Amino acid sequence: MRIPENKIEEVRHASDVVDVISNYVKLKRRGKNYIGLCPFHTEKTPSFNVSPERQMYHCFGCGVGGNVITFVMEYEKVSFVEAIRTLADRAGISLPQEGVVDDKEKITESESLYAVCRAAARFFYDNMTTTVEGQLALEYFRHRGFSDETVRAFGLGYSMNAWDTLLKFAEREKLPLEMMEKAGLLIQREDKSGYYDRFRGRAMFPIFAVTGRVIGFGARKLREDDPLPGKYINSPETPIYVKSKSLYGISHAKDAIREKEYAILVEGYADLISVYQAGIKNIVASSGTALTDEQIELIGRYAKKVTLVYDADSAGSKATMRGVDLIIEQGLDVRIAELPEGDDPDSFVKTNGGEAFQKLLDEAASFLDFKARLFQSQGMLETPEGQAQAVRSIVETIAKMKDELKRGFYIKSLSERYGIYESTLYRELEKLLGKERGRERIERLRDERLRDERHRDERSQSLNPESSIQQASSRPSSVPAPERDLLTLMLEHGNEMVGYVFTHVKLEHFTHPLAQKVLALIIPHLERSEKWDTNSLIDETDNVELRRFITDITFSKYELSKGWKEQGAMPEEADPGDIADSCMMILKRQELERLIAENQQHMKEAAARGEEVRRFAEHHQLLMREKKDLEMYGLTGEREVPG
Ligand code: UTP
Ligand code: MN
Repeated sequence: MRIPENKIEEVRHASDVVDVISNYVKLKRRGKNYIGLCPFHTEKTPSFNVSPERQMYHCFGCGVGGNVITFVMEYEKVSFVEAIRTLADRAGISLPQEGVVDDKEKITESESLYAVCRAAARFFYDNMTTTVEGQLALEYFRHRGFSDETVRAFGLGYSMNAWDTLLKFAEREKLPLEMMEKAGLLIQREDKSGYYDRFRGRAMFPIFAVTGRVIGFGARKLREDDPLPGKYINSPETPIYVKSKSLYGISHAKDAIREKEYAILVEGYADLISVYQAGIKNIVASSGTALTDEQIELIGRYAKKVTLVYDADSAGSKATMRGVDLIIEQGLDVRIAELPEGDDPDSFVKTNGGEAFQKLLDEAASFLDFKARLFQSQGMLETPEGQAQAVRSIVETIAKMKDELKRGFYIKSLSERYGIYESTLYRELEKLLGKERGRERIERLRDERLRDERHRDERSQSLNPESSIQQASSRPSSVPAPERDLLTLMLEHGNEMVGYVFTHVKLEHFTHPLAQKVLALIIPHLERSEKWDTNSLIDETDNVELRRFITDITFSKYELSKGWKEQGAMPEEADPGDIADSCMMILKRQELERLIAENQQHMKEAAARGEEVRRFAEHHQLLMREKKDLEMYGLTGEREVPG
């Protein structure tokens, strides 16, 4: 069963491209469009464009492009149907539940990985609730103070203490074993004779993606005789579980983070669950891995402030310091809530309750107070050398702030706290910023160079069709300028322009496979006199390269007319009809030249075989006449295009 067409339309209309992409990328308005840092490649200066008018996006840096549906497909790595489902969820539109995945629909690898993880999570839950052995886990969770409701909300479960329980379940349910292995659930035997369960006799914590799909597991030791080291065993890195980009609890917490405008960051699974259960829901956990830029970016989609919660012992650790600097470097504000010695968030909430924990959060220290307090407790402030070192360390963190006003504010408080002249602090800061700026400048230059290279490859040459042909033909991978410009005009003006173009040239005049493919999408609409636009074309193809090409020419259209103007060859507002004529002239002349060369070749071959060459000579005359006519009289036929 397919999702009905009208439902797809409903979802599309409810999903504004700027709204949806804003959930993933920070967008700023620029003119008619929005721009931001491309989520599909790493860059420091924004080249990712989103057009509310066209409901499309395009990155001039890496070339990605499409509409709201392809964005979700590419970002979440899911199929069309899954993307529709995600957008429908977001918009509160209900879709037919069973069998939404059409047989013909290509099921991506990621989706089978999601599917086996979901099945495993359900299996672990059932083990816990329906087997005698599983009671052990349920008792354990209850003993830790997790309510049954919490256990359900986080999908906690139990993996049986055997080598093949999950394996047998997978075989019974006909789950693909290679996918189970790829998802980190099964491990292949050394002699490759089969598989065995990775998780055995442990309390299971499913790890969720932002969308709420299960992507992996943390498995906590339960029994004394568990032979494996490690209190927790975690899923390995898989195509859907990329540890550096995942945060435990993010799907549960994201709405609360947005609402409260800050995120609480803790370390452990159990910490998160306990705090969440106490009613403080804007919380995520790094789950034992060192915090990464990408995890902070993920938080940054929902709020610009983070409160780190650390116990007194770990407060001075390198990891905490690094976390503070990393968050500041990403442009987020950071505060540090310190727990009493010997407590972790889990134990603190259990003994003192949610309100006390909230109070700790409300009293969290700024990073400056945090560092100062820490240095003091380490006795650093007692000697002049120690004090200098402390101040330098704080200035180093200030130097990581992108916001100049913020830097000024912290320099001032630092000056007041230690009675050091602001100018002295600024001198220190400038020294550090000098280094920093150098690095940034280099990164920016690199971004720009990459972008320029793409421009040269595919676009700049198209501005003047006459002069660009040689360039274009020396770059076989790029679409020749006249073809590109004609496509741009057709996409912009629709059927009327398409009709006009094809009264003068034939499909074969377009030589580039990408151009041919775009036309193969457009022409059926012309033949049926159907309305279409660039956005609807995007949905008609699952060829990513083609989609990129379409968005590229869509977003570059203004450069085309600008280019013509700069060439001085065209009046102030270049007339689309005139541009089309020039392009078609070139295509026709090129085709004639091709035919002439071909004919000459045939003539040579015939002569070599001692055959009659007269018909070739006549044909040559004909072609030459046609070419001359074309040059003298231009295109024949009436012109009828929008001005
Ligand atoms: P902790 O040792 O603080 O564990 O590690 P915890 O969360 O308090 O565990 P409980 O309360 O004893 O159940 C913090 C986090 O580090 C990761 C886990 O994500 C854990 O929640 N970790 C810890 C591992 O991945 N493996 C380990 O062996 C230990
Ligand atoms: Mn703990």
